[in-house]
Amino acid sequence: MKSIVEVEGISKAFRQGKEWVRVLESVSLQVGVGEIVSLMGKSGSGKTTFLDILGGIQLPDSGWVSISDRKMTALNESERTRFRRRHIGMVFQFFNLIPTLTGRENIAFALELNGRSDKQRVASLMEKLDIIHRADAFPETLSGGEQQRFAIARAIVHDPKVILADEPTGNLDDEHSQGVLEVFRDLCRNEGVALVLGTHSQDCAAISDRVLHLRYGKLR
Ligand SMILES: Nc1ncnc2c1ncn2[C@@H]1O[C@H](COP(=O)(O)OP(=O)(O)OP(=O)(O)O)[C@@H](O)[C@H]1O
Ligand SMILES: [Mg+2]
Repeated sequence: MKSIVEVEGISKAFRQGKEWVRVLESVSLQVGVGEIVSLMGKSGSGKTTFLDILGGIQLPDSGWVSISDRKMTALNESERTRFRRRHIGMVFQFFNLIPTLTGRENIAFALELNGRSDKQRVASLMEKLDIIHRADAFPETLSGGEQQRFAIARAIVHDPKVILADEPTGNLDDEHSQGVLEVFRDLCRNEGVALVLGTHSQDCAAISDRVLHLRYGKLR
């Protein structure tokens, strides 16, 4: 199976007061086309840090990341941003919707950044994720679960081949959680999308081809 996500020997430490905390220690990972991988691990184990490094939001102290044969870690910040907008879909743990845009506009904007406009596609994603009735609401008036579903729609609207989703069902009830996982699974099975999930949820683990655990900086 061809790998679309390749991570080799990533390490990352943070300074906390006088101490350095080593969050990731020489972590490697390969994810194939169409593959779903869950990263589990207790709070503070480094799931968000790892996904941020995969998406080029943060840089590792050492090691490299390649997505679709592009060495992300060799790019500067604006090159990484451009690459991410086009080729990666990121669902952030705390959503990061743009507060001055409505839900619908948040989704459409991710397409516009790729020079595209497709009202029907935006509407059909909102329909699928059961947020169409809130399309014109601003993020601060949306519930956590609604914001999360807008954030998911925004992450997939531009047809990325790699999706990095940080606890994407963390704010959802069972029914919406299953709905989201079905959308993800379709994308992976039918369109060859590679999906890396940071999660505490057994439901996410259940749709995964592999479940890995982050513990003491190691991924196993
Ligand atoms: N910028 C930073 N400066 C200092 N410490 C940081 C920074 N970012 C993350 N950390 C620390 O790194 C560790 C890993 O954090 P991270 O957010 O990756 O964990 P997580 O597995 O996503 O946790 P959760 O399940 O609670 O979301 C934590 O101890 C956190 O406090
Ligand atoms: Mg996290």
